Amino acid sequence: MEHRRFFIDLVKYWLSVGASRALPRLKTGIEVVFLLLTYKGYLRPDASALEVFGMHGLWHTKYYLKYIGHLDIFEINKTYSRLSRLALGTRKVSFYHQDSLIYLSETERKYDLVVADTPVAGGFFEADGLPRFWKDLIQVTAPRGIVIFNVLTEFVSSNRSFPTTVMKALHGRRLRDFFFVPRNDVMCYGVVVLDD
Ligand SMILES: C[S@@+](CC[C@H](N)C(=O)[O-])C[C@H]1O[C@@H](n2cnc3c(N)ncnc32)[C@H](O)[C@@H]1O
Repeated sequence: MEHRRFFIDLVKYWLSVGASRALPRLKTGIEVVFLLLTYKGYLRPDASALEVFGMHGLWHTKYYLKYIGHLDIFEINKTYSRLSRLALGTRKVSFYHQDSLIYLSETERKYDLVVADTPVAGGFFEADGLPRFWKDLIQVTAPRGIVIFNVLTEFVSSNRSFPTTVMKALHGRRLRDFFFVPRNDVMCYGVVVLDD
């Protein structure tokens, strides 16, 4: 099942790269996020990044590798973890076949950039729309670092106070910037840039 998913998504990845070369205005949501972070001057090209639910790395990880210096990628499924080595290569990436949530809770102020897609299993969001382990995502982020998380677009549009909720939930850190970028028909990326 994982291998089939991998080959289908590899074909989709190359199709999207080909389409984007032919029509440069075609960008995926994650590319728009990284273009904005670069233009706004928030992202250093040598940034050290963490992705906590890596899968095979073809849905969005492979698109942003060129914008960063190094990535630690965590994936609990052994087959996906192995396949992600094929997809991403080992030049810029370290692979961890382990539970990222435990690692998150034990690590402080280490990464310039933290990416949290959903783990797919239920219970990802708190009632206020934030990831359940939001505090740990903030804690693992270095001073002036960036957190990219997934949120349901419907939740953002029907809860006007959501941006305020995010701003209040920084656990003592100050906010430099905060914006949303659509990912697909139902999800968007929330991008938090810390000031300290
Ligand atoms: C939706 S996929 C992520 C897709 C990937 N971020 C991308 O866009 O290319 C979610 C993945 O998280 C993994 N996962 C779930 N819980 C995890 C945990 N506690 N630690 C590490 N990986 C986990 C699942 O095995 C699954 O492959």
